[in-house]
Amino acid sequence: MFTLYKPAIGLGLLLIWSMAGAEPSSSLPAKSLQERIQLGQTIYEQNCSRCHQPTGEGVPNTFPPLAKSDFLIKNKLRVIDFVMNGHDGTVLVKNKLYMDAMPSFNFNDEEVADVLSYVMNSWGNKGGVVTPLEVAKERTKKKPKAQ
Ligand code: HEC
Repeated sequence: MFTLYKPAIGLGLLLIWSMAGAEPSSSLPAKSLQERIQLGQTIYEQNCSRCHQPTGEGVPNTFPPLAKSDFLIKNKLRVIDFVMNGHDGTVLVKNKLYMDAMPSFNFNDEEVADVLSYVMNSWGNKGGVVTPLEVAKERTKKKPKAQ
């Protein structure tokens, strides 16, 4: 008898948990890729385009291109980390080395997913998606390392 109820309770809790985690109540169902790209574009224009440019082409020798960036394709998880924590090292993009610093952004999981999904689907990039779950996983990965 009881075994019948348990999954139902579990499901109910899961539902409450996922609703509590959601942002405004309007985003209850998972966003479509199209919605994500649209929201991501606004985030990009407000936060990223001053360096990477509205065209995604970057600035020669200073800010790397996101348009057709081989680095982006190969390093999805690292790039999630760049947006959350910034990056001050070197990156090789389309055979050119970049050494300037990228700042960190205080975005939530949805915002990181939106902006990167926009980038991956713009300027001739091949498409793809970054999900909030992937961002959340990257976030927790970092914690034990921080000392
Ligand atoms: C102040 C300038 C600046 C801003 C603003 C900025 N970046 Fe960057 N970005 C850089 C630099 C410089 C690098 C290379 C970092 C390094 O060499 O360590 C970089 C690297 C990257 C890379 C990996 C390299 C590539 O070209 O594929 C991605 C992806 C990226 N940025 C995305 C973003 C996104 C998305 C935003 C907005 C949320 C953003 N950046 C905002 C300067 C910036």
